[in-house]
Parts: sequence; C-alpha cells; structure tokens
Amino acid sequence: MTWVTKTLNSTLGRKLIMALTGLFLILFLTGHVSGNLLLFKGDGGQAFNMYAKFMTTNPAVKLLSYLTYISVIGHIVYSIFLTQHNKSARPVSYSTSNGSSNSAWSSRNMGVLGTIILIFLVVHLQGFWAKMHWGEIPMVTYEGEEYKNLYLIVSEAFKQVWLVALYVVSMIFLGFHLSHGFASAFQTLGLNHKKYSPAIKAVGMVYCILVPALFAAMPLYIHFTSYTK
Ligand code: HEM
Repeated sequence: MTWVTKTLNSTLGRKLIMALTGLFLILFLTGHVSGNLLLFKGDGGQAFNMYAKFMTTNPAVKLLSYLTYISVIGHIVYSIFLTQHNKSARPVSYSTSNGSSNSAWSSRNMGVLGTIILIFLVVHLQGFWAKMHWGEIPMVTYEGEEYKNLYLIVSEAFKQVWLVALYVVSMIFLGFHLSHGFASAFQTLGLNHKKYSPAIKAVGMVYCILVPALFAAMPLYIHFTSYTK
C-alpha cells in the first residue's frame, strides 16, 4: 500500500477528505446562491439565462463543475465509509447516551441531514441541471444571440406548491447540516486559534443562516409573484 492509499484509508485521511470536499462545496454554494440571485431581477429571466449559458459553456467554469461533481460524490462516499467505521469500532452503542447534553442535535444527526439533502439534490438536479444539459428547453433570443430559456423551466417548476415546500424544508436541514459541517471541517484541519476562532465561528453562523435563507427565498418569490402575472 502506498502512503497515499494508506492515508485515504485511515480515519484521519477520511475525515480530511470530508473536510476538504465539504469546504469546496461551501464555496460552490456561495457561487451558486450569488448567481441565482439574478432570479430576483424582474427582467423576465434575461440576466439569469445569460448567466446560465456562461456557466455551462465557459471552459474554466466547466472544470469547476467537474470538481463539484467529484466533491459531491467523494463527500457522500466517504461519509458512508466513516459511518461504517464508527459502527464497527463501537458495535454496541453507549448504554447511557445523554442526547443533547453530549453534543448538538445537528452533530448527532449529520447522516440523517445528509440523506435528506441527498434526496433534495436528486430532485433538484433531475429538475434543472439534467434538463439544462440534455433536456428540450425552449430557446429565447437576446441581442441577436440564442439562449436556452432556463428561467422558464425554473419559474414553471416553482408554480408547484409541493416543490416550493420541498425546497424550503430542505434548506432548513441544509442550514443545520452546514452549521455542524463548518465547525467540524475547521476542527479536522486543526484551524483552531485563540484569537480568530470566535470570528470564524461567527462568520460560519451567518453563512449557515444566510445562504439557506436566500435559497429558500427563491422558490417562494417565484411562486408568489407568479399569481400577479
Ligand atoms: C432555490 C434554490 C436553487 C435554485 C433556483 C437552483 C438552480 C439551479 C439550476 C437552474 C441549475 C442548472 C444550471 C446549470 O447546470 O448550471 C442548478 C445546478 C446545480 N445545483 Fe442548484 N439551485 C438551487 C439550490 C441548490 C442547492 C441548495 C444545492 C446543493 C445543496 C444545489 C446544487 C446544485 C448542483 C450541484 C448543480 C450542478 C452544478 C454544475 O453543473 O456545476 N442547488 N441549480
């Protein structure tokens, strides 16, 4: 076994992969939420459609997309490895597990939270991403150039109450998942500093509330403005 495979198979190596893929996904979500803010622009989707074309055709962004797919898959696969390792290390669970006094709810339920987010992701990617890449999408022309009208797909999708509800509820779970993930990644990477840790913690808290709240506001905004059209 080389040192690389040895490291990847050790508990620390697995935790490192979880932390690094998790932090990369946090960066991805920051970019994703920022770009999607164009949905609020009220221009009939022009800026959003132009942005979507850029994001799916620019070679540098494509490379980032591949890194995102690898990170999503790596994060899921290694979470399963770690859970199985933890179970085999402690086949009989603690007889006195003192619930909330031992650890935060989100930290004890990362697997459940992750699974809910995975279900959300499957519905989300099938509804938008797969359609953008392989589906039949009506075209729209701006300034003589043709674009896929992804905005139409998104706004039609969010007319459905069940989908809006799924997005809003999933974003609450995403917030809890991120809140533990953020702290846990910094701990794994040993980024604990007397002076800076409280500031990092505060930024993490703001992030875990703001990003899911903005994501949740998108389907709500599109749904309720659709009644006024
Ligand atoms: C209301 C909130 C959201 C909206 C409106 C939205 C919209 C979209 C759209 C339109 C696409 C396809 C565009 C493309 O292929 O570039 C996409 C892709 C994607 N979304 Fe979302 N999204 C939302 C929230 C989320 C969340 C919370 C996650 C993760 C937990 C997520 C993960 C992804 C991923 C991984 C892709 C594929 C990105 C790529 O190909 O590079 N999205 N999203």
